[in-house]
Amino acid sequence: MRPLKMAMIGLGQGAAGTIPAMAAMPEIELVAGADLNPAMRAGFAEHFPGTRVYETVAGVCADPEVEAVWIATPNRFHAEHAIEAMRNGKHVIVEKPMAITLEEADRMVDTARQHEVTLLAGHTRSLSIWNRAMRRIILSGELGPLRAIHIWAYTDWMIRPRTPDELDPAQGGGIVFRQGPHQIDTLRLLGGGKLRSVRGMTGTWLDARPIPGYFTAYMEFEDGTPATIMHNGYGYFAMASLYPWAHEKRGYTDADRVELRRGLVAGRRDETKEKEIFRVGGARDPVAEAKANPAEPYPWKPFDLGPVEVACERGMILPAQWGLTVYADDGPHDLDLRHLQRPEPDPSGGLSIAILEELHGAVVGGKRAYHTAEWGRATLEASLAVMQSAEERREIVLTRQVEMPAGYDAELRTGLEVAAV
Ligand SMILES: NC(=O)c1ccc[n+]([C@@H]2O[C@H](COP(=O)([O-])OP(=O)(O)OC[C@H]3O[C@@H](n4cnc5c(N)ncnc54)[C@H](O)[C@@H]3O)[C@@H](O)[C@H]2O)c1
Repeated sequence: MRPLKMAMIGLGQGAAGTIPAMAAMPEIELVAGADLNPAMRAGFAEHFPGTRVYETVAGVCADPEVEAVWIATPNRFHAEHAIEAMRNGKHVIVEKPMAITLEEADRMVDTARQHEVTLLAGHTRSLSIWNRAMRRIILSGELGPLRAIHIWAYTDWMIRPRTPDELDPAQGGGIVFRQGPHQIDTLRLLGGGKLRSVRGMTGTWLDARPIPGYFTAYMEFEDGTPATIMHNGYGYFAMASLYPWAHEKRGYTDADRVELRRGLVAGRRDETKEKEIFRVGGARDPVAEAKANPAEPYPWKPFDLGPVEVACERGMILPAQWGLTVYADDGPHDLDLRHLQRPEPDPSGGLSIAILEELHGAVVGGKRAYHTAEWGRATLEASLAVMQSAEERREIVLTRQVEMPAGYDAELRTGLEVAAV
């Protein structure tokens, strides 16, 4: 199958974690990049000579060779930029959160339909091979019906460098908008997709950061299956420290975190400068690192999702270093999932490869798209419900939920065969 010609719009920190996969996958030909900031444009041009570099979304849209775009601009622009691209006939992958209001998401759904283009929304940790394999095991029925899902994360998300828009809830700032989609997409994938209701609570605990840095929620699927999520991003404790192999190469140490918090409280951090080093062309840009180091199999890490714990009637599934541990009536089974990892570099741990494969399959291969605009809208609806529920101190009933069709990942093999007891 021929490659899909793509452009990256917004060459910031998120894009830098995705571009290595775009540049390495045979399914994709990276032909252009765009950013308002000349430093990122220069970094992109240096990494990828022969590609075209634009300042604006309009520039990319006018490029007839670009068939699809990946939108990694700040949250408040996702709807505007996706709609502009789709009106110009481009297929789109839009970063999470898909948009910041349901009205914007509705317009994105309508525009994709009107212009007959594919829009994928759901570049989240749900795409990791660990979560997808968990879903296949649940669907296999080997452990009986799904009974509960629990996901909890402790990270330093709140003390990482942030731009002003990231600190404004009205512009899609805060941990629920940014991190909610990872946990909500994951539990929706595992539970079938259709949530019935949400009861959430948020916490804004640090004066220097006027946005929620903590949230928790109890969610119930339509069939009554319960799920809970929690993310504490204040950085006093990092979940990765529980897993000896999960030392984050690019992450902060305990000592770094003490300094970051002190600097924040004292108001002496230059966060724009701090963030620039992680963007395309910056000193710690993963694009350069991916070029220098060949990809190797990567172990499971909590990242910003946390461990996912699945309880079925006759067993449990938990992530393990190289795969999953499945606890069944006949005892634990260790599944090695390394055979499901692709060889290309992907600093996101396989997420970018997975959604790019899906877009290529849908646009070039005539296959079905699964992380559609409707899927993304349902996750946004649940994220917004966490915040509304926290505000109003009541349960919110959802109305825009959609299923993940059983055909998604039909060929994925986990290697689990539970012995009959
Ligand atoms: N899926 C993931 O795991 C993941 C990880 C990180 C970030 N993200 C997402 O990526 C998006 C960007 O976040 P970030 O941390 O990279 O921010 P960032 O500030 O580092 O990057 C945003 C970039 O967009 C550029 N930009 C802003 N307005 C623009 C416009 N109108 N036209 C062209 N370029 C424009 C900025 O100059 C900047 O380089 C967010 O939606 C975030 O949620 C996703």
